[in-house]
Amino acid sequence: MCLEGLGKKSIVLSKKACEFRCYMVKLAVIGTGGMAHHQVESFQKIEGCRVVAACDIDEKRVCEFGKKFGLEARYTDVDRLFEEVDCDAVTIVAPDAAHHPLTLKAIAAGKHVLCEKPLALCAKDAHEMSTAAEAAGVINMVNFSYRNSSAIQMASKLARSGELGTIRHVHAHYLQGWLAQDDWGFWETSPQWLWRLSTKAGSMGVLGDIGVHILDFAGMPVGSYRSVNCKLKTFDKGENNLMGGYELDANDSAIITAEFSNGALATIHTTRWAQPHSNSLRLNLYGDMASIEIDLDESYSTLKISRILGRKSMPWEKLDCGATPSNFQRFILAVETGVQDQPDFARGAAIQSVLDACFESDRNDKTVAL
Ligand SMILES: NC(=O)c1ccc[n+]([C@@H]2O[C@H](COP(=O)([O-])OP(=O)(O)OC[C@H]3O[C@@H](n4cnc5c(N)ncnc54)[C@H](O)[C@@H]3O)[C@@H](O)[C@H]2O)c1
Repeated sequence: MCLEGLGKKSIVLSKKACEFRCYMVKLAVIGTGGMAHHQVESFQKIEGCRVVAACDIDEKRVCEFGKKFGLEARYTDVDRLFEEVDCDAVTIVAPDAAHHPLTLKAIAAGKHVLCEKPLALCAKDAHEMSTAAEAAGVINMVNFSYRNSSAIQMASKLARSGELGTIRHVHAHYLQGWLAQDDWGFWETSPQWLWRLSTKAGSMGVLGDIGVHILDFAGMPVGSYRSVNCKLKTFDKGENNLMGGYELDANDSAIITAEFSNGALATIHTTRWAQPHSNSLRLNLYGDMASIEIDLDESYSTLKISRILGRKSMPWEKLDCGATPSNFQRFILAVETGVQDQPDFARGAAIQSVLDACFESDRNDKTVAL
């Protein structure tokens, strides 16, 4: 990894990285909805990155977006963007179903790609994206954004260094409440939320939307998944589950029990019905030498750790985890230096295989091996 800074107050770039800082990465954004606003605000703050163009199939939206962020090059056709715009990299922030086709086009045009999560709608497509990026030699990353927490980076570092001993038990959740409360507006009248409730609009429900994050988050310090057992549920919403032209058939609650390759057992659950939570992620790791608790509602940059001395558990201690680069910073630096960083498409595809296994488990009511 070419970035340092974990456990330090500020992010320090390696000497090699600093030498590359004279190069300005030209970035185009594809999809200009809610998440793209957050992304471009972040990218425009990164020294070494210039956002040069935007594309959206919705002309009004791309025009407003272009005006807001000072982007003259605005497109409704991604092929024209690739023909006419001089850019090194793209960030794909369109809905999930568009990730696979847009990414393959971007790779064919020789662009480095940051793609939003979930990487694709199925593992086959996700692995195809990973293989294509590797063959083309382009930088490829998927935006598992909770890796921006230095607490999870530190937990992974402690787990890898053996300080937790053998991890035996894992408990993780990602809870949202926007189906039960209006803290993010009224989903009933907003396409931004309605497409997330409909498989025909390319949504994999809560499992694909935020379950993908917590599967990555819980697995990052522990390792690969060996098997999963998953129960999905779609609760009734509106008359005949139809609203605003969308069929509301995508799952909105998921409970997963899993086994990791190291033998650890896990319970992982996620839902959009957990009022009053807006966006709550929590992870408990229980090792035979120490246990860790991360609660992102409390802090992104501290974790609690309880060590075992002899057979005695020490009281929970708060650990300051310092700062860590965001995925956006990692991506720009990877393009500048040509050194691939994590989370890459291979990681996105591995988690996509876990999602596929969860759907198969729910469909057939059985545990599925990975
Ligand atoms: N990493 C995170 O934490 C995080 C958070 C929110 C959303 N996301 C992801 O970001 C993506 C976008 O989500 P959003 O909330 O911004 O959705 P949104 O509905 O607000 O915006 C999506 C935009 O993409 C446009 N679009 C659709 N198809 C397109 C295509 N083929 N080419 C170009 N533009 C196209 C739509 O017109 C719309 O403007 C999703 O994949 C979502 O899962 C990730």
